[in-house]
Amino acid sequence: MMRRVPVRLSGGRGYEIEIDAGALDNLGATARRVLAPTARRCAIISNRRVFDLYGATVVESLRAQGFGVASLLIGDGERHKSLRVAERVLESLAALGLERSDAVVALGGGVVGDLAGFVAAVYLRGIAWLQAPTTLLAQIDASVGGKTAVNTRTGKNLIGAFHQPRAVVIDTRTLQTLPPRELTAGWCEAIKQGAIGSRRLFAQTRNYLLHANATESSAQLSDLIAAQCAFKARVVAGDERESVARTDARSRRILNFGHTVAHALEAVTNFRRFRHGEAVGRGMLAAAEISNRLGLLPSSELELLRATVRLAGRLPHADDLDAGLLLSALAGDKKSVGGHVQWVLLERIGRTRIVSGREIPPKILRASLRAALI
Ligand SMILES: NC(=O)c1ccc[n+]([C@@H]2O[C@H](COP(=O)([O-])OP(=O)(O)OC[C@H]3O[C@@H](n4cnc5c(N)ncnc54)[C@H](O)[C@@H]3O)[C@@H](O)[C@H]2O)c1
Ligand SMILES: [Zn+2]
Repeated sequence: MMRRVPVRLSGGRGYEIEIDAGALDNLGATARRVLAPTARRCAIISNRRVFDLYGATVVESLRAQGFGVASLLIGDGERHKSLRVAERVLESLAALGLERSDAVVALGGGVVGDLAGFVAAVYLRGIAWLQAPTTLLAQIDASVGGKTAVNTRTGKNLIGAFHQPRAVVIDTRTLQTLPPRELTAGWCEAIKQGAIGSRRLFAQTRNYLLHANATESSAQLSDLIAAQCAFKARVVAGDERESVARTDARSRRILNFGHTVAHALEAVTNFRRFRHGEAVGRGMLAAAEISNRLGLLPSSELELLRATVRLAGRLPHADDLDAGLLLSALAGDKKSVGGHVQWVLLERIGRTRIVSGREIPPKILRASLRAALI
């Protein structure tokens, strides 16, 4: 059974996220429904690995609806999410003669989604796009919210645009071929969304990890992904463009739970040791340790979070990393306001509080980092 999660945005620009085992079979029909009647062609943007697995299904389902289909493949990995690759793809779209009413289809993980969305945002000043995320992280997080971006030498996601897709098509079957570490990374982000969202979402995520075969395309998996998307969609709808001034418990900023330390961990290990989600796993523990030491989060809740992160899978070791080095990396976080890191902390599972770094004694910070690194 298809689950549909509406994403409501101002000015009637809402769209739906469709979730089902086998949803890619119907991507063409969805495209037909959401694109302009004049749409004739679709350009699929993907990478070799994902296209080899799922490209034929998507091509066939688009052709069955009368679309002309072209495919453009980019390299695999974060370093291909670049302005240079975007330029190459834009030139290819122009050479293909893709028109104003045609569309881009992003088939892949967050790297493909971010780059394809960015290309769709700027090609002919913006054309329609559909997103078919194939990693757990992209299905519950990156594909919801309309943020698109590419990296530059100086940093990640520095060039981008808000450009909402016409539809998101999530086929849970694609997770069956996902490498284990990518699943772990995705589960960490799912636990994060539970921890900041509600006790209910947290429990649903935890129960799935405890009882279900995490790679099986079950009804429970679709339900869980739908609940995760609904949570992210709700946050995004309330704060579509991440206003800098907002620090309330419903602002988009709360999605950064665990990310302050995660970014520092990724930086000090030169982006080689951790998948981003794995770093978020440790980052959440650090934020929860701080919360606990400040007297906000009860120890039982801290322990519950710890136990749940363990269910996500084994995280890369971090006990060799120097807490002092991490602290200096923290200071360079781009989400700081007026030079101070804005920490997303927990009052309990399901309730966040944003606290300025100024209010956290250095001793507590160090001890919490050390506790999260072992
Ligand atoms: N736009 C947003 O709001 C947002 C949010 C979070 C993350 N992101 C971005 O997402 C990116 C990370 O995305 P990711 O974690 O999906 O990584 P990814 O896109 O690099 O995919 C991870 C790996 O899995 C492979 N893969 C993808 N689907 C597969 C499948 N079904 N079977 C087998 N292999 C498969 C990919 O080829 C890749 O090697 C980062 O660039 C990050 O900045 C964006
Ligand atoms: Zn993240």
